[in-house]
Amino acid sequence: MARERRSAGDRKYSGPVSKLAIYPGSFDPLTLGHMDVIERAARLFDRVVVSVGVNSSKKPLLTPEQRAQAIRASVTGLKNVEVDTFQGLLAKYAEGMGASAIVRGLRATADFEYEFQMATVNRKLSSSIETVFLMTKWEHSYLSSTIVKEIAVLGGDYSSLVPEPVARIIEKALETA
Ligand code: PNS
Repeated sequence: MARERRSAGDRKYSGPVSKLAIYPGSFDPLTLGHMDVIERAARLFDRVVVSVGVNSSKKPLLTPEQRAQAIRASVTGLKNVEVDTFQGLLAKYAEGMGASAIVRGLRATADFEYEFQMATVNRKLSSSIETVFLMTKWEHSYLSSTIVKEIAVLGGDYSSLVPEPVARIIEKALETA
């Protein structure tokens, strides 16, 4: 009986596999740095779900619903991007969504230790999901939600640091605070 011979060229084509990435974060608020990461992730993956989570070490300015609303209004031009909120463990959430990757932005070496720890913990909790880091554009490397929050609370002009719909939602939240 002839033995079946296989070469790389014989490999069966099983059709395109749709790749979903979760981009989690506090997004309190979404900044132009986050927007840059979303746009780049949307070019790399078939679907990107930007997911607002709870970082228990941060004091929030906006509710998770306000943050999700602000993101939704900012990504209307990106057809493969959706917005969601999650509670509990990120790894379990990403697994339940059928994601193949978690995307995180890296600004500078200062981010590395925290991101390394988070990626390692998430891999321990779910070995099937890769964390993919996208380096933030140099012009956004100084930018953080914390900086925007501080400027906003102290009455400064933060409008050039966030997408326009985000600025409107922050303004409203500060009026009613
Ligand atoms: O924008 P942030 O604050 O850096 O986002 C952090 C976030 C919300 C992604 C992270 O705190 C998180 O994943 N929280 C859910 C709880 C969890 O899974 N913790 C274990 C991994 S550190």
